[in-house]
Amino acid sequence: MKDIKACVFDAYGTLFDFNSAVARHRGEIGPQADRLAQMWRDKQIGYTWWRSVMGKYAPFWQVTGEALAHCLRTCGLPHEGALHEKLMQAYLVLDPFSEVRSTLDALHAAEMPLAILSNGNPEMLEAVVRNTRLADYFNALLSVDTVKVFKPDPRVYALVTDHFSVAPTDVCFLSSNGWDAHGAATFGFRTLWVNRAGAAPEGLPGTPAGELRSLGDLPTMILP
Ligand code: LAC
Repeated sequence: MKDIKACVFDAYGTLFDFNSAVARHRGEIGPQADRLAQMWRDKQIGYTWWRSVMGKYAPFWQVTGEALAHCLRTCGLPHEGALHEKLMQAYLVLDPFSEVRSTLDALHAAEMPLAILSNGNPEMLEAVVRNTRLADYFNALLSVDTVKVFKPDPRVYALVTDHFSVAPTDVCFLSSNGWDAHGAATFGFRTLWVNRAGAAPEGLPGTPAGELRSLGDLPTMILP
């Protein structure tokens, strides 16, 4: 995949391991920790879709907190107070996946323009890249907050082409979320699905250009 003019990453699940929030507080959560982690992510993303359909955008921080409160209640855990607060704060210091820094290093050294395109509102994105010391790699942190609708609405992907003044086919987009990869491919990005979990292909419109198991192979795929 050559002649790429900008390389754009989804944030949560692609660069940052959202399960690391629950993992940090596993002892306090107890045996339901894995269930809570999975349910929280599913509800968080479900809430973004339902809010988009309702025309009721709210910042991802709020959506993430509302999803967490629901999931804590479902698990029979206190849904407000210290545990809720700790898990939300952990979202601002999520662990990057192990190959992220070396991949960004290689792309940055080759002067590839890099950006994040995320459901995350600007404050969340700025905090997580600052706290993980990845901020300097990115030319832009592009947030759905500008268009007040969540992925996979095409207006979100257009933030990238507008920002870089490029055509969709000039962009390599990476997401671990199959539905996001299909949304981006439908928009016209050259999309690589970072299928970390080895999930089955999604039956959705759009055809990702390829599939990776991690970001480690990305530099050799796109650099001249
Ligand atoms: C994001 C979610 C989809 O970062 O992971 O946009």
